[in-house]
Amino acid sequence: METYRTIHSSYDVEHIRKDFPILHTKVNNKSLVYFDNAASTQKPLSVISALQEYYTTFNANIHRGIHTLAERATHEFETTREEVRKFINASAREEIIFTRGTTESINLVASSWGRAFLKPGDEILLSAMEHHSNMVPWFIVARQQHANVKIIPINQQGEVILEEYEKLLSEKVKIVSIVHASNSLGTVNPIKKIIERAHQHGAVVVVDGAQSTSHLHIDVQHLDADFFAFSGHKIYGPTGIGVLYGKKHLLEAMPPYQGGGEMIGEVTYQGFTTNELPYKFEAGTPNIADAVVLKHAIRYINTIGKDNIQRHENELLQYATEKISEISGVKIIGQAKEKISILAFTVEGVHHQDIGILLDKEGIAIRTGHHCTQPLMQRYGIAGTNRASFALYNTKSEVDYFMQALHKAIRMLR
Ligand code: ALA
Repeated sequence: METYRTIHSSYDVEHIRKDFPILHTKVNNKSLVYFDNAASTQKPLSVISALQEYYTTFNANIHRGIHTLAERATHEFETTREEVRKFINASAREEIIFTRGTTESINLVASSWGRAFLKPGDEILLSAMEHHSNMVPWFIVARQQHANVKIIPINQQGEVILEEYEKLLSEKVKIVSIVHASNSLGTVNPIKKIIERAHQHGAVVVVDGAQSTSHLHIDVQHLDADFFAFSGHKIYGPTGIGVLYGKKHLLEAMPPYQGGGEMIGEVTYQGFTTNELPYKFEAGTPNIADAVVLKHAIRYINTIGKDNIQRHENELLQYATEKISEISGVKIIGQAKEKISILAFTVEGVHHQDIGILLDKEGIAIRTGHHCTQPLMQRYGIAGTNRASFALYNTKSEVDYFMQALHKAIRMLR
C-alpha cells in the first residue's frame, strides 16, 4: 500500500493505466478515451481476476453450507462487509446492507422506512438536482402514504440555496433525501450542514453517494448520515452490487423490504420472525460473486489514496474547464464552487446527441442526454447536455485530444 502511495506522490497515471486492460483497446480504430466514468467506471485487473478466482475456486452459496467452499465464500462475502464498513467508517458491520446498487438502496429506505413511518401530510424534501432514482421511490411512497414531496431549489451555478432549504424545514419534514455529488452538474453539496439542520428538525437524512464515493472521503459518522447509498460499479468494482448504510437503531425499527430465505428468524404456517441485522434486509441468495469482489475495488482505491485521486481529478477538471471555455458557443452546465470531476456542457445550435456520435467515431466515450435528471434539465430549460466525467486513470493528453475532436465535431455540425 505504502509503495503505491510513494510512487504516486507525483501521481504516475501511466503506471495506473496499466492496471486497466480496457483502456488499451481500440474503438472505431482509435485509442479509447473513456470519459463516461460517472455512468460506470472501468475495472482494474485485481477486480477482474478476483471475479475469475471466485468462480474457478470457491463458488458456493453462503450462510447455509458447512462444506469448505461454502465456508470460504461466506468468509469472503463477510470480509467485504467489514472492508466496506471501514471504507465509509460505519460503526458496526450490522449497518452495512448489500443491495444491487444505489437505486435499490434508496428504494429499500423509501419502501421500508417510508411505509412504516410516513403519515398523511408529512413532507419529504429532495433537492432540484436529484437523479430519478432519488425522486421516483419517494413519489411512490408519498402517493401511498399521502405525504408530500417538496423540492429545495438551486441557483444558476447548480448549488443548493441553503436559505430556501431553511425555509422549507419544519416539523412536518420527516425525510431529507439528497445527493452528495450531482451526476449531472458535478456539484458537491454541503451535506454535513444539510444533515445538521435536518436533525435539528427531527428529520432523517438519506444521502445518495453514487457519485461521491469514488472521489471524496466518506465518513458516515462524521457526516452523521442516517442512511448512505452507493454502487460498486461506480467505484471501480462490479455491476449489480451496492451498499446501503443505515444507523443501527433506524434499521432495527424498520420492517423487512423483501421476504424470503436468509431474512427470517423462524417461519411457521402462521407467520415469521425476522433475522438480525444485516440479514433482515438481504432476502434470498445475494450477489455473492460481486460482493466478494467489491473489496478488491476498495483496496485499489485505498492503495492509490483518495487524496491523490482527488488532486489528480481536480487538475483534470480545471484543465478541461479552461480549455472548453475557449470554445465559442459552449456553455458549462454546473459551475458550483465545490465539484467532482464532471464537466457538462451544451453547444449553441448543436444537438448533444450529434456531438456524442461524432466523438464516438474518434474513440471518445462521453454521455449525452438528460442523465436521468429530467426535472433538472427542465430547471435549466434544456433537453440535455454533453457530459465528460473523469476518473483516476484519465490524462491531460486525453483532454487535449477530446478538445480537438470537439472542435472538429462542432465545425462539422454548425
Ligand atoms: N447515474 C449514472 C449516470 O449519471 C448512470 O450516468
